[in-house]
Amino acid sequence: MSRARSRPSYRRLPGPPRSVAAAALSAFALLGGCDTPETTGLSPADEAATRAVLGIPEFLEVPAIPEYNPPTKEKIELGRHLFYDKRLSGNQTQSCESCHFQNKAFADGEKTPTGSSGDVLVRNSPGLANAFYHSTLTWANNGLLQLEDQLPVPIRGDNPVELGVSDGLHDEVLARFDADPDYQRMFAEAFPESGSGATINKIVFALATFCRTLVSADSPYDRYVQGDKTALTDQQRRGLALFNGERFECFHCHSGTNLTVSYHDANTTAGTIKYPFFNNGLYNIDGEGSYPPYDQGLYDLTLDPDDRGLFRPQSLRNVALTAPYMHDGSIETLRDVVKHYAAGGRVIESGPYAGDGRKSPLKSGLVRGFMATEEEIDDVVAFLESLTDEAFVSNPAFANPFVDAPP
Ligand code: HEC
Ligand code: HEC
Repeated sequence: MSRARSRPSYRRLPGPPRSVAAAALSAFALLGGCDTPETTGLSPADEAATRAVLGIPEFLEVPAIPEYNPPTKEKIELGRHLFYDKRLSGNQTQSCESCHFQNKAFADGEKTPTGSSGDVLVRNSPGLANAFYHSTLTWANNGLLQLEDQLPVPIRGDNPVELGVSDGLHDEVLARFDADPDYQRMFAEAFPESGSGATINKIVFALATFCRTLVSADSPYDRYVQGDKTALTDQQRRGLALFNGERFECFHCHSGTNLTVSYHDANTTAGTIKYPFFNNGLYNIDGEGSYPPYDQGLYDLTLDPDDRGLFRPQSLRNVALTAPYMHDGSIETLRDVVKHYAAGGRVIESGPYAGDGRKSPLKSGLVRGFMATEEEIDDVVAFLESLTDEAFVSNPAFANPFVDAPP
């Protein structure tokens, strides 16, 4: 008999604060390594300055930003160049952009991407719009609370290799930037108090600051929420009502600014930040709720058997541009995602991962399955399409700075 979870799994994070350097060293073994982030709130002057430099509109909250890395336009400029620069990979074949394309809201359209040295990753590249509001970063890690902690992973991680800046290549990679007069200037301007030259920490801080400018706030849904009742079509409004209703249940896990309950900002007090992870019944390999052995979600960090299949509820901003879906890119279309929830889990008939996800004992009690007409499913898909922000995907401030550069 199924022992469905009736409550979401909110995780508290014990342990001492971690330095960026420590995060870089043990990025894949983060067991309870972080304390609650600093969320002290900002003075009105600081808030206005932060909004101005990052481009956060009044109707969104100011993000939580670690005190040690205040945003400046110089860091943004440096971070934007680094994001698009293949010199930031060990073998100079990939940049951040290789897996995060602006025209796909910074996802990549692949099921799962391939790193610079050929490792095929097990997880789908997420979009980066407003990613900084997530209370934890990546699909299933309760230790990565800030971009400054997470970004060493794609740069330095070796399991799997993404950019592959390993210890052995570290000095060579930094020397590439130190040898370039444009970067000498940008590093000096972005970090005027410290000694000259590139360091991994400066690279991480600048990239984190650039990622905090990737603000998406101009979708039809945003205009609707701000009072323009014509911004959504009738069909999209019906879809929104279903999304927020007790039959479809979506809003329990997908609500607020980013349509996810994984959320924090500068004014969230530490005690109220939620670190939610849910199992939504994609797999049930052994009848006990197991996911494929190469990726069991939060379980891989906690080794608590009840954590098998727990993943972060993903932001739905620009979701129509970020297919395929779920942590492993295993659902191709939004329509199939909604049908997955309507079925209350996925049945895989044959092969190594066969099993009936609908009967998983670890599935969230909120993924119960529901009756829905084809028309209602279309309505919800139409609503999800209203989260696409055309201004975001064409904003020149986020584009590759090298393309239009003068010769
Ligand atoms: C080889 C492909 C690849 C490259 C290169 C890459 N990423 Fe990613 N990125 C991913 C994948 C896959 C994830 C999800 C990882 C996970 O869940 O374990 C991710 C996650 C992220 C996240 C977390 C988003 C969220 O919602 O939690 C951010 C931010 C990010 N990447 C930024 C970057 C930056 C900046 C760079 C360059 C330094 C970069 N990525 C390079 C594939 C890549
Ligand atoms: C119990 C919480 C919960 C409920 C209820 C829920 N979701 Fe999700 N949603 C999640 C989680 C967790 C993920 C990521 C799961 C994974 O990758 O294994 C997700 C992923 C998604 C994705 C894929 C996003 C991406 O970028 O890959 C979409 C789309 C989505 N949900 C839409 C919906 C809709 C529509 C509903 C209502 C019919 C809904 N969700 C109900 C928790 C939930």
